[in-house]
Amino acid sequence: MEIKAIRGMNDILPEESGRWRLLEDTTRRIFSLYGFAELRPPLLERTELFLRGIGDETDVVEKQMYTFTDKGGDSVTLRPEATACVLRAVIEHGLLGKDPVQKLYSIGPMFRYERPQKGRYRQFHQINAERLGEDGPLADAETLAMAYDLARSILGREALLMEVNSLGCKECRPAFKAELEGFLASRQELLCSDCRRRMHTNPLRVLDCKVESCREAVRNAPLMDRLLCNGCRDHHGKVLEGLGALGVSCEENPRLVRGLDYYTRTTFEITAAGLGSQNAVAGGGRYDDLLSVLGGPQVGGIGFAFGMERMIMLMGEARHRETGCFVVTQPRPDIELASLALISELRSAGIRTEASPGRSFKAQMRRADRSGYPLCAILGEDEVKTATLTIRDMRTASQIKINRAAVLEEVTSLLADRKGE
Ligand code: HAM
Repeated sequence: MEIKAIRGMNDILPEESGRWRLLEDTTRRIFSLYGFAELRPPLLERTELFLRGIGDETDVVEKQMYTFTDKGGDSVTLRPEATACVLRAVIEHGLLGKDPVQKLYSIGPMFRYERPQKGRYRQFHQINAERLGEDGPLADAETLAMAYDLARSILGREALLMEVNSLGCKECRPAFKAELEGFLASRQELLCSDCRRRMHTNPLRVLDCKVESCREAVRNAPLMDRLLCNGCRDHHGKVLEGLGALGVSCEENPRLVRGLDYYTRTTFEITAAGLGSQNAVAGGGRYDDLLSVLGGPQVGGIGFAFGMERMIMLMGEARHRETGCFVVTQPRPDIELASLALISELRSAGIRTEASPGRSFKAQMRRADRSGYPLCAILGEDEVKTATLTIRDMRTASQIKINRAAVLEEVTSLLADRKGE
């Protein structure tokens, strides 16, 4: 019987990997402009980390974690997100003792047992960034600007929308929760069984429930913005001011809540047209208590994560063009053997080079074309005798004869011309 991949877990095929590489390269380039360094945590962590970090009443923890007992009897979980893992690593290695400001990014797979659909998978990839040790609003503005820069450079400005909200803090959120609980109590017949329970313990989660009747129930729910304390209101105003100064266009959305429990003050989401219902390409916000909840110092942070599959879906064809030279030989063992020195010379000069020995001339040409090579170097009996090569431009099908000795010079200059087109 044929064995297939697990539902919601996808292979990334060679034809797509160019786009993935482009996204990763762009991320590394932009994030390094902001002074971020890479931290690579493991994929598997103690379950306790996510129970404490994400919040035990979130959908992620209640329904979506890949948790199992390992052979030593410990409960472990495939990471559903990176924030808790990065913070665990920061605490474990005392990174804040070495430098009180940490700017860290990670790229890699996450696991959530969700119902798969377009843009929603069980294994998916995130680009994650965390900035710790700066509490001021301009740190928030700069971090949001970094997310915006990445989204814009991949998707273009027109296609995206950045929405920002403040969820308040330990001081002002209790009053909001109380008001929300009162409101939900008056409409509890509309709530799902999870939300009937959560409305008393964690009413903000009800605002994030995906069940249609719950969405209906919270349509006119009270908003946090009216109840923000002075500190939070001031912080929020300055974040918006900072974003303006950085040239980031965003909209305030007082209804924006996030699916994870750790946020305080600034939260945001970037959505893109063309993705259907799973249209959030990135989300994040500030968390002033998460580090201490995980056993670290009382230091705040802010971060975000992009869903890479959603970015890839929007990228269209890879923008980077293939380069290199395909070596095509007359199918004769002595000529094929003679071609090896040429192949090796081209590769040693850093030129992408392939050949397909043992196949017909036509099959070799077809492979050169399919693999996107702009040039072919053709070696036949005549070329070997006269110490020449035929170079074919695959786009125009025009051919020139060159001296075998001049191959590096000629190929390099033809490839440089193609790049400039
Ligand atoms: P999140 O909103 O849960 O936040 O996920 C961030 C992004 O990951 C989403 O906007 C979406 O693009 C993508 N994503 C989430 N679940 C799936 C899925 N099942 N399939 C495909 N893509 C998905 C976080 O994870 C936070 N840790 C972000 C953060 C970092 N906040 C502060 N620092």
